[in-house]
Amino acid sequence: MPIPIYAGDNPIYLEQAAQTLQAGQLVALPTETVYGLGADADQDNACRAIFAAKGRPTNHPLIVHVSSTTAAAHYAREIPDFAQQLIRTYWPGPLTIIVKRRVGIANAAAAGQDTIGLRCPAHPVAQALLKAFEHLGGHGIAAPSANQFGRTSPTTARHVQEAFADKHNCAPAMILDGGACEVGIESTIIDCSSPKMVLLRPGILTPDELEKAAGKPLEIADIFDETTPKAPGTLPSHYAPKAKIRLMSGEEIRTALGIIGSVKPTKTFRLGVYAKKLTQKQKIPHILTRPMPESAASVAHELFAVLHDFDAQGVDLIWIEKPPEEDPQWIGVIDRLERAAAS
Ligand code: TXA
Ligand code: MG
Repeated sequence: MPIPIYAGDNPIYLEQAAQTLQAGQLVALPTETVYGLGADADQDNACRAIFAAKGRPTNHPLIVHVSSTTAAAHYAREIPDFAQQLIRTYWPGPLTIIVKRRVGIANAAAAGQDTIGLRCPAHPVAQALLKAFEHLGGHGIAAPSANQFGRTSPTTARHVQEAFADKHNCAPAMILDGGACEVGIESTIIDCSSPKMVLLRPGILTPDELEKAAGKPLEIADIFDETTPKAPGTLPSHYAPKAKIRLMSGEEIRTALGIIGSVKPTKTFRLGVYAKKLTQKQKIPHILTRPMPESAASVAHELFAVLHDFDAQGVDLIWIEKPPEEDPQWIGVIDRLERAAAS
């Protein structure tokens, strides 16, 4: 039996989901970034079930989702001024802040760190679920992306269902459907637990606008530095579809397609191409092509769905046009592409 998917805008299902969380079970929920695999952040056993369901190492902390700054105060020991400025600018929205954690609160979710990741999601279904859960006495929902460890994050309810299709005893009890995620890549993560403001994971927000909001320079974490906390989204190889990914320039892709187009197709090998400016001549029948949109926001929105689609069609290799590195708008997309290509 596939995991049931319920309409997330139906109050009956929202109530059922809140009760499921209260009972210590897992619920998959939509956010504006990606779908999350949620548990009551204050129940250690429920949070441990998340690690088991994802196959995620237990020392990789989870993000706790809250409905407001007031709810955040249950988890945070202190929220420094620059973090409060970030909150005022971006919450609810695709920003996670790492702050010092209140002692003894959300131990399993924090995976042994003395800090906690907090995010107030903007998606109306996530907000409604958080409110329904608070009504039952809950404070926050711990939720990593609802995929198997190391794989592409889900941006639709169907992606979540597929990710747990063969994990019968180790899967969310229900999935709330909130449509395709608008942002499409995971939240920007900023470490605010020291006087410095450090970018741990880029998302859709640009360094410039973050610095302006916080009134402080942004430092970029070196993810290969042994002293920074290792966590899934910051491992060199992550977000991987089953197919191999090769990042190439648009020029390289168009040239290679020109050559391949003249070769007889084989039935055993499938190539997918995700690039801009593919002319009719470059749309070769035995190669699956997806036109890449112009804007970073549009590519972020559809990127994971494109990777899921290529996988569903049994593609072995994907050529992806590398976006312009010098343009800060693309920082989050390039990060995900490089990690997906590294595996
Ligand atoms: O957009 C998102 O952030 C999605 C949705 C569901 O909200 N969630 C998500 O969670 O991407 P996940 O588990 O896939 O990524 C969690 C990231 C990890 O990479 C980890 O680095 C960071 O959050 N993180 C959480 N708590 C942390 C902490 N205390 N210290 C350092 N990093 C932390
Ligand atoms: Mg993830």
